[in-house]
Amino acid sequence: MSSIKIQKICCIGAGYVGGPTMSVIADKCPDLEIRVVDINKERIDAWNDSDLNKLPIFEPGLDRIISRTRGRNLFFSTEMEKSISDADMIFISVNTPTKTKGLGAGQASDLSWVEASARQVAKYAKGHTIVIEKSTLPVRTAQAIKEILKTTDKETQKNEISKTFSVLSNPEFLAEGTAINDLEKPDRVLIGGEDSDSIDALVKIYLNWVPYEQIICTNLWSSELSKLAANAFLAQRISSINSISAFCEATGADVQEVAKAIGTDKRIGNQFLSAGPGFGGSCFKKDILNLVYLSGYFGLPEVANYWNQVVVLNTWQQDRIYKIVLEKLFGTVNGKNIAILGFSFKANTNDTRESPAIRISSDLLEEGAILSIYDPKVTFERIEEDFEKFSFNNQGIWKMANSIPEALKNVDAVLILTAWDEFFGLDWNYLASLMRSPAWVFDTRSVVNRQEIDNTGVNLWKLGAVSYTHLRAHETVLDVVCRLLLEKK
Ligand code: UDX
Ligand code: ADP
Repeated sequence: MSSIKIQKICCIGAGYVGGPTMSVIADKCPDLEIRVVDINKERIDAWNDSDLNKLPIFEPGLDRIISRTRGRNLFFSTEMEKSISDADMIFISVNTPTKTKGLGAGQASDLSWVEASARQVAKYAKGHTIVIEKSTLPVRTAQAIKEILKTTDKETQKNEISKTFSVLSNPEFLAEGTAINDLEKPDRVLIGGEDSDSIDALVKIYLNWVPYEQIICTNLWSSELSKLAANAFLAQRISSINSISAFCEATGADVQEVAKAIGTDKRIGNQFLSAGPGFGGSCFKKDILNLVYLSGYFGLPEVANYWNQVVVLNTWQQDRIYKIVLEKLFGTVNGKNIAILGFSFKANTNDTRESPAIRISSDLLEEGAILSIYDPKVTFERIEEDFEKFSFNNQGIWKMANSIPEALKNVDAVLILTAWDEFFGLDWNYLASLMRSPAWVFDTRSVVNRQEIDNTGVNLWKLGAVSYTHLRAHETVLDVVCRLLLEKK
């Protein structure tokens, strides 16, 4: 086991990864003192708010852990210098968005924040420090971090303070909405590095709650690439099932039935086969584009094209949904009222990064629609910022609704974009009475049951299934397809 004793940990970045990850480590290792630091004071203040409903991120179970660890061995602050210099181990958990300008714009990761963090560590660290990449980073970023850490500032040189570093990669696989469970019961923990003493020091921390067999140690580059590859494989499954959803609509098959049928094959497995409006979140698109960029860089254009298609299909799925709404509403939404149910990129999170709702809503607004948006956790300010960033020629108007009935009042259509629990089993008889006829429900997340809509007079379009208006009494889906084909003739 490691000869390095870890007592104090610092995590740079108090976001969706840093916050929950450090909370769980603090919970499982009460003997460690953990300081989470961030340049964003507002965010740190929110982490320190005595009202746990005001934590900067919503994650089921997080408030419980914060209430027993904060102030005990978990601290949130903007005090960078002392937190870094005291630490034996530093996690870098800052944002790594896709570059918007310069070489690799639109594909490569912007490493400005990682670089700035590494420079802070180089400046303030003392003695031997283990530096851990937690953010998803392009392969060989650890090398860049090592180079930066080697540089010492003038003051350090003058005072001849000796400092040494060891760099590890320890990618995080948590998914938002289930982060606490993913952290407490991970499928695996991945640690990449070259210095076995430092690797052992990190292994020792995880052994407090993760079985040894589930801790995988690799070289640095395998660890970095595994994170990108895992996200690319997951996103690829979603694009695959979404491509099949369009096929189902065209042929009369039902994507849920197809997903069940193929998912029972153990080699395929039944997870990540839910067709929907496309994947969102801060990771999938960014990581695939990163893979695409790196494949191009390493002279592998066929590999780059292969992965790029996963992103192309994802955008196509969102465009396709918007066009279907337009088509069903007689080719125009100008001046029409449409309710958007769900704005976060998935249920159980207040995160809207890359949410399909942004593109689809923006396209509708561009066509002059009047949107009433309801989401149980996303704030008005967040949506406003999202629309501003997603530059579009906004002709429409949008407002927030405080409840589902408020959102549906006088609307011509409802578009369900996130599978929040409260959207299942709604009283459509009542809701239909609030809507304007002919009313449409566009369900992109399979939350509505056909039977619930029966006799309400509302039309139902379900992603990956035959449109409900086509069905007549006692007709099977096959009957509909035959009838439609005959009608076409
Ligand atoms: C993902 C990875 O799952 C996680 O391991 C990694 O650390 C970060 O990226 P996250 O983005 O938080 O996590 O959520 P995830 O549950 O993977 O969902 C991503 C997107 O795919 C969401 O928009 C979700 O709605 C969509 N999705 C997921 C589907 O459309 N269908 C599915 O079957 C699964
Ligand atoms: P992730 O989903 O990867 O956790 P977030 O954007 O939620 O990404 O969080 C990243 C956090 O890192 C932000 O709160 C940001 O303010 C913080 N951050 C970025 N650069 C630095 C830095 N140099 N020092 C400290 N914190 C930083």
